[in-house]
Amino acid sequence: MTPHYLFSLELDRLPSLESDFLIVGSGIAGLFAAYKAGKLGSVLVVTKQRAEDSNTERAQGGIAAAVDETDSPVLHLEDTLEAGAGLCDAKTVEILVTEGPLRVMELVELGVRFDREGSAWDLGREGAHRRRRILHASDATGGEVARALIRECRSDPRIILREGCCLVDFLRHPRSGRCVGALMLDSQTGGFVVCRAPVVIAATGGAGQLYRGTTNPTVATGDGAAAAYRAGAELMDMEFVQFHPTVLAMPNAPHFLISEAVRGEGALLRNVRGERFMPRYHQMAELAPRDVVTRAIIREMQETQANHVLLDISQSEPDHFQVRFPNISSTCREYGLDLGKGYIPVAPATHYIMGGIKTGSNGETNTPGFYACGEVACSGVHGANRLASNSLLEGLVFGARAVTAGWRYLQQSMEQPLRLTGYLDGRQDWTSLTADLYDWQETAERVRTIMWDKAGIIRQGQGLAQAAVELDRIDREIASLAPTRSAVEAVNLLTLGRLAVAAAQLRTESRGGHFRSDFPSRDDVYWLRHIIFEV
Ligand code: SIN
Repeated sequence: MTPHYLFSLELDRLPSLESDFLIVGSGIAGLFAAYKAGKLGSVLVVTKQRAEDSNTERAQGGIAAAVDETDSPVLHLEDTLEAGAGLCDAKTVEILVTEGPLRVMELVELGVRFDREGSAWDLGREGAHRRRRILHASDATGGEVARALIRECRSDPRIILREGCCLVDFLRHPRSGRCVGALMLDSQTGGFVVCRAPVVIAATGGAGQLYRGTTNPTVATGDGAAAAYRAGAELMDMEFVQFHPTVLAMPNAPHFLISEAVRGEGALLRNVRGERFMPRYHQMAELAPRDVVTRAIIREMQETQANHVLLDISQSEPDHFQVRFPNISSTCREYGLDLGKGYIPVAPATHYIMGGIKTGSNGETNTPGFYACGEVACSGVHGANRLASNSLLEGLVFGARAVTAGWRYLQQSMEQPLRLTGYLDGRQDWTSLTADLYDWQETAERVRTIMWDKAGIIRQGQGLAQAAVELDRIDREIASLAPTRSAVEAVNLLTLGRLAVAAAQLRTESRGGHFRSDFPSRDDVYWLRHIIFEV
């Protein structure tokens, strides 16, 4: 496999940084990996914006873990497999649910304050979980975890946390094929920087920005997955996209998540006529798997010709709601919603990408020295549909495992260290570019609109074919590439959009986060298989 790089560059002329571990991304997976790696060697964590700017920071509901005596990893495993709709890797899920509680307790030791009820954990419930097993810190769990991990990383002298560094490409040694670092765009200098390391861990998070409506922050542009693909890694399950059912739907409000935990505390879904509808769609009603709730909401919106449904919170005393969900309450109020009326208008939006860099259970990829963990990875724990609150857990468990495996690899490869020198043969000779010829934000917006309209919650063959044609057209229009963050992001979104559409065209059935109205049934005879792309 020959890697495809974005830019042609003479590497030896560029500033460079060296470490034992290079970790790209500062969500829970990257930060926990950094915390672990800091105990073993030198660590450079690079992140595109501020360390806090990640999906982790926004995670409300919490971390699923079988920590209650009435629960067990086996029950958690069964719920995860059920949600995953036949495509989970059971062995990897077993690792997730058995190691998960141990990793969560490490967070507690690091000072993360999950809510308690007396001496017991105050466990929440979310969709498709048959037990209360969600550890949470009020309704801002991710923020609490991120703060503790960032503090820990900043206080460790072996860890350097560098903000404002946008991943351009992962670098592979031309002869050995090993991953030996990454090329970054550094916002401090406005130029390129080469980060060299024998162990490179992609923890760049998701790609919710592929879609017009998303709960994800603007940094979630799939950079790690797209760069890994260019470097020769395999991408798997790209057709499986999770749409969160309940996202605030008010004019001028952002796509702000209304946690599934709200339904876990008893809130009901009603259409705009006031009719409760979920019992008609699934026996678990409001706590059915996310894909089921999302499609039910879309159906009700269509039938009532409304752009939202209502989340009825009237069963909860306003004071209680405010205490349990302070972050949600204050955001709703900020956008003018009177919670005293007892409902929140909601509609689905893109939330999580199940697909990503194909890894084994130690975060290893097909490329020596290159590991992936967290949302950017596809280890098989989520299958076709991620179980609620399993993603923070995944970041912890597989972030730690990637470090252990990377350290083992580093020690073996110490005998024959390899350095990447010379010329990087990319697609664009950036030095010849004098001006940025494109409006990259507009390019990204076009991709988002195509994806939302034609490859969104309900897909069908004709729409997907049109999406493929339109994305190809955009690709042909891009004649040159500027060395800027927005150019790299737009190209990454385009790459992933094309792969997601191609996978959705191929998968002629409906399963989990992939629903085709022209193939509405699940086909376990042919489609109990994964779609994998490689350059
Ligand atoms: C939520 O709080 O509903 C989101 C949790 C998750 O995405 O796992």
